[in-house]
Amino acid sequence: MSRGAQAVIDLAALRANLRTARKAAAGARVMAVVKSDGYGHGLARVAAALAGGGGGGGARAGAGPGAGAGVGAGVGGGGAGVAADAAADAFAVTTLEEALTLRRCGITQPVVLLQGPFAAADLEPAASAQLELVIHAAWQVEALEQASALTAPLRLWLKVDSGMNRLGFPPAAVPEMWRRLQALPQRSGEIGFMTHLACADDRRSGMTAQQLATFDAACAGLPGPRSAANSAGLLGWPESRLDWVRPGIMLYGASPFIEPRADDPLLEPVMTLQGRLVAIKQCARGAVVGYGATYRCPEAMPLGVVSVGYGDGYPRHAPSGTPVEVGVGSGSGAGSDSGSGAMSDLMVHSGPPGHSGQPVQRAQPAALVGRISMDMLAIDLRRAPAARPGDRVVLWGAQPRPETIAKAAGTIAYELFCQVTPRVERVEREEQVGQEERAAQVELAERVEREQQGERVERAEPVKREERGGRRRGGAR
Ligand SMILES: Cc1ncc(COP(=O)(O)O)c(C=O)c1O
Repeated sequence: MSRGAQAVIDLAALRANLRTARKAAAGARVMAVVKSDGYGHGLARVAAALAGGGGGGGARAGAGPGAGAGVGAGVGGGGAGVAADAAADAFAVTTLEEALTLRRCGITQPVVLLQGPFAAADLEPAASAQLELVIHAAWQVEALEQASALTAPLRLWLKVDSGMNRLGFPPAAVPEMWRRLQALPQRSGEIGFMTHLACADDRRSGMTAQQLATFDAACAGLPGPRSAANSAGLLGWPESRLDWVRPGIMLYGASPFIEPRADDPLLEPVMTLQGRLVAIKQCARGAVVGYGATYRCPEAMPLGVVSVGYGDGYPRHAPSGTPVEVGVGSGSGAGSDSGSGAMSDLMVHSGPPGHSGQPVQRAQPAALVGRISMDMLAIDLRRAPAARPGDRVVLWGAQPRPETIAKAAGTIAYELFCQVTPRVERVEREEQVGQEERAAQVELAERVEREQQGERVERAEPVKREERGGRRRGGAR
């Protein structure tokens, strides 16, 4: 039997989020950010799902400056190659290896190296793979000037530091750097301009407007497409959309905002991290749980041990009380291994008792107790008393949402996704339900999540949590 530690990757959700991004982009081109192994979701599968045409390229005209067709949707690309709703116009990664992986997977869209070359030796492989380079430092300009003949001319972006003080040229240096890049014999197409927003996730910050004004002034009068918006810019700052948007986290279904709002577009979590109940025990009042004995049972209670720990990427700092969801009935008894779909999916489709032939399942809330171990974590099963060994437990997904877990653990959803370790089995899932039904499912899951969040605020004090446990509406979905 497998441990059942799985990251179920919902590719239909990924595409739905891309459609949401495209709609919000209001005509700007969409550069899907798939660095860091597709934010932990698997670079090749994410890119294939977002490429359109079922597995790579296909949705745009022309590929590669060297081919003479021009990178239709690339820097300076004109009207050519308008991608389908569910296809990205370009992909962005950090490392040359990531970019070459995309090419090996058959991705024909432009691939942008967000930090450009890391050494002069990167230029030739980048050119022959027809990558686009973001140039942010003087040494990169020099390397380009000194490069011997490349297989193909390179398309370039010039990175402007509009105030974040990470990568990019100071505004005053932009015209001069642009002139030097413009003079390169081994360059093709217009040079694009890119900047990165430091505080777009905070709708109250004045920094975004300042950065946009700085960026605008820095490249005033110079031709070429502009790009500033990450997910938060795209959704929260219409003036940042410009010619190209660069969504990352929103494609994976997590909110980019510090304070998400009810009227934000629905984003569907793409990754469901789940494990199984490997043991259930009845603990006496006063019994302690886990390393450091940090949790003491306030009454006699059932406790579940789940097959996921920090060795799988679950954050060790998630405190007692962090929500999980138990798929009561999702296993068929101790040691069961009943398939690999995400629990939420099975719940939606299992239907009334006896109809589908699948075991009847109910999603029931539970909460972490005690410290996270390397391979396990413990949960309070008082609100899921019918849970049995083998039942699935969702650590994050449609519910609880990754943002909730990230907040509880003092981190961000980006980090949660990127930290899921290789030993966790990745399982791809394609959803067959229609878009309307899907939207309804997501809305329902979000409503339940909001209700639970409200309850969690009320129940901040552990003793009160127990007192109110019986009054909670159980397993709504
Ligand atoms: C330069 C650049 N653009 C876009 C993104 C995407 O940001 P987000 O995931 O917040 O949408 C990133 C991610 O860190 C980035 O570094």
